Amino acid sequence: MQPLETRTDYTHGQLDVLDVLDSPLEQLQMWLSEAAEANILEPNGMTISTVRQGMPSSRVVLLRGLDTGLVFYTNYLSRKGTDIASNAFVAANFWWAALERQVRIEGKLEKVSAAESDAYFASRPFESQLASAASPQSQVVERHVLEQMVTDLRATHVDSMPRPAHWGGFRLVPTYFEFWQGRKARLHDRIAFVLEAGIWRKERLAP
Ligand SMILES: Cc1cc2nc3c(=O)[nH]c(=O)nc-3n(C[C@H](O)[C@H](O)[C@H](O)COP(=O)(O)O)c2cc1C
Repeated sequence: MQPLETRTDYTHGQLDVLDVLDSPLEQLQMWLSEAAEANILEPNGMTISTVRQGMPSSRVVLLRGLDTGLVFYTNYLSRKGTDIASNAFVAANFWWAALERQVRIEGKLEKVSAAESDAYFASRPFESQLASAASPQSQVVERHVLEQMVTDLRATHVDSMPRPAHWGGFRLVPTYFEFWQGRKARLHDRIAFVLEAGIWRKERLAP
């Protein structure tokens, strides 16, 4: 069978308005924990879509914090970083195939505080610090030039380095969530959360 002709029937679970928690952030935390327990590779990997001048662009980043929003870290001068500087509205997506679950999120990004970014950067392994400090993310580069940049940086630091100003966190402050659970015969469950006057309203959407 050709991969493009594959048809999977989803039978893992089901979801009702009454099943989901009243807080979508807590519901996401619960599903993330269940994805981790299911030994899914990078359960906190999420696709972030930015839009610049009407043109969308997507890539995976790792969720590193979940509080009033969804926190991830990146290079502020990257393609996504400069997209966000011109338009802070983004969409995010998780897909956990083994659990037959998808989560869609929409909202606005804000930079996390410098202190929060400093603390997270300091918690990273030295090699990760070097790579993210040296890499001119999203720029055209030769592999040997990139490796030389890391070597040069390693020569001037021992086992840690300060966070460079071009690298730090963003917090996605959500205004919309959708929790999707695959069901039999394409009659999937979709429970949406819409923020209205500070209150999350839940509703079922047609698959
Ligand atoms: C599983 C996975 C996790 C990733 N995590 C991050 C991350 O946390 N931060 C980041 O900047 N890039 C991360 N990346 C790389 C991005 O997908 C992307 O290649 C990079 O950020 C440059 O994107 P841009 O040119 O659109 O800015 C990850 C990629 C994968 C596949």
